[in-house]
Amino acid sequence: MATEAGLVEHRRDKVGYVHKIILKKKYRRRTKRPAAPLVLMPLQRLFLSCRDVFQGPGTVPAPTDVQRLCHILDGMMPEDVGLSRDLQFFKQSAVKGIPRVTTTTIYKCDNFSLCIFFLPATAVIPLHNHPGMTVFSKLLVGTMHIKAYDWVDPANSDDSVSPSQLRLARLKANNVFKAPCNTSVLYPTSGGNIHEFTAITPCAVLDVLGPPYSQEDGRDCSYYKDTPYNAFSNGETEVAEEEGERYGWLEEIEMPKDSEMDGIEYLGPQVIETSS
Ligand SMILES: [Fe+2]
Repeated sequence: MATEAGLVEHRRDKVGYVHKIILKKKYRRRTKRPAAPLVLMPLQRLFLSCRDVFQGPGTVPAPTDVQRLCHILDGMMPEDVGLSRDLQFFKQSAVKGIPRVTTTTIYKCDNFSLCIFFLPATAVIPLHNHPGMTVFSKLLVGTMHIKAYDWVDPANSDDSVSPSQLRLARLKANNVFKAPCNTSVLYPTSGGNIHEFTAITPCAVLDVLGPPYSQEDGRDCSYYKDTPYNAFSNGETEVAEEEGERYGWLEEIEMPKDSEMDGIEYLGPQVIETSS
């Protein structure tokens, strides 16, 4: 794992340089030109749109709002959050010992959060759920395998199922994604709410979570182990494996010990909390 300072690029020098040029021009000009239209940086556009779109716990963004966020995220590059593909972290083909995932939070409020996950090659974020959440995942760097399930019976809430009990889930995704690629979206009961990330090469993923996890509000993260459907099919639950549809049994497990993440400070471009 790269050091904290090396992982996220700092841009203070560049900002200082731009400032110098602006001052020089200001003294030369005598006539007043109309102000250039303000062009927002992608991260700031994402932040302002998230503030509009996410209405808090118990709500799901409308399809047009989902499209709006996807459109911004689809166009985002590593540089938009202060990253470069040239960072040593992204060039390491292997790490010693069990690879640890690192995370950093760009912004968090009650309605949404913006986070980045850094996975060294072969690192895994095991199967986990997003209760009551809509989540946008944009792979910024690397190649990653994503497996995702939805509950066949989402009405059967987690509270009514003992941890050791197997629940039937429908496989929604089992694909390899390579950056640059489009954004994946999951919803409270569809789109692959329970997913697993496996890094094939070192990866960086930008996640938008609305609302964020909150233990107090009953949105804690649960972990699962999956077993192929056929291994436990006993005839009690009849599922026809239609073309293109696959199923699995999920069992809730304790968070795997080697899945703990390291948190680092976010040092990329900041979002600006304007009042409008
Ligand atoms: Fe996730």
